[in-house]
Amino acid sequence: MSESKNIKKFKFKSFGDESGWLVPIEASKDIPFEIKRIYYIYDTTANAVRGKHAHIDLEQVLVCLNGGCTIVVDDGKECKEVILSQRTDGLYIGNNVWREMKDFSKDCVLLVLASKYFEDSQYIRDYEEFLAVVGG
Ligand code: TYD
Repeated sequence: MSESKNIKKFKFKSFGDESGWLVPIEASKDIPFEIKRIYYIYDTTANAVRGKHAHIDLEQVLVCLNGGCTIVVDDGKECKEVILSQRTDGLYIGNNVWREMKDFSKDCVLLVLASKYFEDSQYIRDYEEFLAVVGG
């Protein structure tokens, strides 16, 4: 899958020297939306597969603060796997993208920045329904 406007891996600027590194994230500057919500996933079990949903109207940026994991992104036409293993990597996921998170390292801490508050009605949890929505 070529990068689309709804799926984009990118690098944050980082500042550092021998004393350590710092990555700033400013809403609407380093990521393309105002941040309304932050959550993080950790202590994932071996073989855990999370996500398995799409959002109708929600933008997110995923960053692995520790360890690594694989994000499966599917726009209904193409499906690809993105590995997040660098603390300076961000993955932007826009509307109507089916995502699954897997292959978590034991020490993985996955940070998610979201453009909206949590709303269960914004989830599509059924893959067939997702395909019908995106016309895939
Ligand atoms: P879920 O979205 O299913 O997690 P994942 O996509 O990683 O598998 O959410 C798990 C639980 O956490 C579910 O009961 C809803 C709750 N939750 C919130 O209360 N607020 C949130 O911002 C998120 C993402 C989930």
